[in-house]
Amino acid sequence: MMNLILFGPPGAGKGTQAARLIDEYKLIHLSTGDLLRAEIKQQTKLGLEAQTFMNKGELVPDSIVIGMIENKLDANPNAIGFIFDGFPRTIPQAKALDSLLERKKSPITRMLALQVEKQELIERLKIRAMESNRPDDQNPEVIENRIKVYEESTAPLIYYYKDQKKFSAIAGMGDVDDIFKRLCMEIEQL
Ligand code: AP5
Repeated sequence: MMNLILFGPPGAGKGTQAARLIDEYKLIHLSTGDLLRAEIKQQTKLGLEAQTFMNKGELVPDSIVIGMIENKLDANPNAIGFIFDGFPRTIPQAKALDSLLERKKSPITRMLALQVEKQELIERLKIRAMESNRPDDQNPEVIENRIKVYEESTAPLIYYYKDQKKFSAIAGMGDVDDIFKRLCMEIEQL
C-alpha cells in the first residue's frame, strides 16, 4: 500500500493536486475538509458542530476528524492506498492515524509538503472567494486566521514526519502541471 499525506497551508494546492494524484495512482482521496463540508451540506449534528469552527478558521476538534477518518478507512478495505489531504493537522491526529494504519499493517509512506509563499496563498484564496461560496474564503480575517492556525498548530507536524524520515518538501509555486510533475517524480522514487 502507498499512503501519502498531502500537506501544506490553506491554498497550497492540496485539493488541486490530490485530484490529479488519485487519477494517476488510483489511491483513495480522504480530505477532512471535503468530508466536513459534506456533513454541513446535509445539516448533520456533526456538520453543525464543525461549522462554527470552520467559519472562524479554527480547527474542528480532533475527536470529530479522527472518527471520520476511521470510518472512511474501514469503508475502503480493498484500497491500494490513500491520499490524506488536510489530515493530520495536529500531533494527536498524526498519532491516531499511525494507530489506525498500524491495524492495516500499512504505515504512512511519505508526507509531501507543498511550499507556497504566504502572499500567494492569500491571493489564491481571494480569487477562489470570487468564484466559490466557501464561507471561510469570504472574509480576509478568516483567511489570515486559517494561515495562523496552520503555522501554530499544524506546521509542527513537519518535525513529526522528519523524525520518521518521511518528509519531502515540494515547490508549490507556479504552474499546476509543473507542480504535479514534481510530486510524481518524488512518488516514483518511493
Ligand atoms: P480544508 O478544506 O482542508 O481547507 P484548507 O486547508 O484551508 O485548504 P484549501 O482547501 O483552502 O486549500 P488547498 O491547499 O486544498 O488548495 P486548493 O487546491 O483548494 O479545511 C477547511 C477547514 O476545515 C479548516 O479550516 C478546519 O476548520 C476544518 N478542518 C479540515 N480538516 C481538519 C482537520 N484535520 N482537523 C481539524 N479541522 C479540520 O487551491 C486553492 C485555490 O488555489 C484554488 O482556487 C485553486 O484553483 C488555486 N490553485 C491551486 N494551485 C494553484 C497554482 N499552482 N497556481 C495558482 N492557483 C492555484
